[in-house]
Amino acid sequence: MCRHLAYVGPPLTLDRLLVRPAHGLYEQSWQPRRQRHGTVNADGFGVGWYPLGPAPDGAPGTGDADDAGFPQPVRYRRAVPVWADANFAELAPAIRSGAVLAAVRSATAGTTQDESAAAPFKDGRWLFSHNGAVRDWTRLPTGLTEAELLGLEAHCDSAALWAMLTALLRQGQPPGGALASVARRVAAARPDARLNFLLTDGRTIAATAWGDTLWYRTGPGAALVASEPDEEPPAPHTADQAPGLGEWREVPDRSLLLATTAGVRIIPLRPPGAADRKERHRMAESRFTLDDRLPAGYFTDSLHDDVRKGLSEPPRTLPPKWFYDKRGSDLFEEITRLPEYYPTRAEQEILTRRAPEIAAITRASTLIELGSGSSRKTRLLLDALTAGGSLVRYAPLDVSGAALAEAGEAICGDYPGLTVTATVADFEGGLPLSDEPGPRLLAFLGSTIGNFDADQRRAFYRTLALALSSDDVLLLGADLVKDPDVLVRAYDDAQGVTAEFNKNVLYVLNRELGADFDPEAFDHVAVWNAEEERIEMRLRSRIAQSVKIPDLDLNLELAEGEDLRTELSCKFRRESLTAELHEGGFTVRQWWTDPGGRFALLLAVPN
Ligand code: AVJ
Repeated sequence: MCRHLAYVGPPLTLDRLLVRPAHGLYEQSWQPRRQRHGTVNADGFGVGWYPLGPAPDGAPGTGDADDAGFPQPVRYRRAVPVWADANFAELAPAIRSGAVLAAVRSATAGTTQDESAAAPFKDGRWLFSHNGAVRDWTRLPTGLTEAELLGLEAHCDSAALWAMLTALLRQGQPPGGALASVARRVAAARPDARLNFLLTDGRTIAATAWGDTLWYRTGPGAALVASEPDEEPPAPHTADQAPGLGEWREVPDRSLLLATTAGVRIIPLRPPGAADRKERHRMAESRFTLDDRLPAGYFTDSLHDDVRKGLSEPPRTLPPKWFYDKRGSDLFEEITRLPEYYPTRAEQEILTRRAPEIAAITRASTLIELGSGSSRKTRLLLDALTAGGSLVRYAPLDVSGAALAEAGEAICGDYPGLTVTATVADFEGGLPLSDEPGPRLLAFLGSTIGNFDADQRRAFYRTLALALSSDDVLLLGADLVKDPDVLVRAYDDAQGVTAEFNKNVLYVLNRELGADFDPEAFDHVAVWNAEEERIEMRLRSRIAQSVKIPDLDLNLELAEGEDLRTELSCKFRRESLTAELHEGGFTVRQWWTDPGGRFALLLAVPN
């Protein structure tokens, strides 16, 4: 029963999208060709779309406050067959939108017959349609309360499914994960249920193929998903004509489809543990790959660049990434165990406590980790995500191939069934992500974000927003503003380990560039910059001295007391971090701190 369609892309009229295409949704209402159940779809129809331009004043927002700032859809629904509605024929050429969800209905006996049962259903920014049927739905274990069941928009299986989904979406679950978990739950109770779902927020389309047909086609900046293909030939994009969509492709049964204007991903929805023996064997054979994406000469070129740009004239600075050769990485590990250095332990406390929630909320299939290093804290996430049954892949990214190889192989050994695809990359210029199974959870832990100043953070959020689709979730660790004495001690410990770590960068420059820094001629300094709310690590020249850097033909004249600034470690506040993330394209959904309120771990989704 039913046919449905969703579109995101350049604005088109409803006429162009639904009525004009030969064998389009309009025609499918009396003559579906691939429909597996029922014959006509004459029991109503509905179209929801996201109006172009600013939201009208006083537009009703039925969702929760999280929908603030999102485009709000409007609907036109009728209980008559679409071909019998003279108004729709007149409206369709006059309504243009870049995001549409439409459906034609064939009702099941005993369900509501008026337009309240016609899809799309709506909640806040979401539009939903269900093509299929669930037997004996009034006794389905939905997890809904009596009141919620009585409050259903309509007396039908689709409205009950929509209520189950709405509950998950309102908790902040991503659309794909929410569809998959409702489909699995319903299928467990009713194995013969047909569950083709279609959901959009005007940016992402999430859909399931479960018992009926599902097709899609894409074009530049456009995606169209439909129960069955129309006969519009593939065409290049022309201003008001076609959206330039390519060939139709069929989605295999039991899959989840995620589409944005950037493209489409298909994820198999096998019941957990259903991979056959042959497949499991194949997966075990080559579960670890290491892909080096750094350009040839990357280390020398970027070190030369950074040192020339940073040290040539005052104020002199060096990026912190040059701390981390083998000795620097070992010293950092030692720092994380110092009594004064609380961030690692605080973050670990939060992760230990919240990992199961993170797994339940995200249902992530892939864990991507930026700057993974030794992947020690990652195991807390891997444990929870594999226990939850969703995780199939771990994708760490780091500039150190050696750290990736060591950590990646160890994790492969400890997590049978997990594929590890490691990438050696510097993610400043963009994230090399592609075909990871979604939903993807992207973790950036340890408050490494604090190493970026405000401009660098803006650029970083832009890079992330480009790489992630709205089904993905960002997990960010951030150290919080607190008593400056506590902060300074964390970066200037009694045993002098941080001082050694700081000075290590001078050994790196001596070795890599033939420089003649005397580390003993510099003092380690950790300053609290109250205005910028950040710790600045510096190396302060004890004397007036000159330093040669032969590989760069550089001669530094340093005054007594002059600083080389080697690291920023910005500290954050909830309100301003939430605001800058929002501006950068992310909405914070969860904010957790350790009991001492020293450190924050947050989940954010693309706006
Ligand atoms: C790994 C960048 C988060 O800024 O706290 C520790 C590095 N520097 N002690 C931090 C660091 C000095 C650390 N990050």
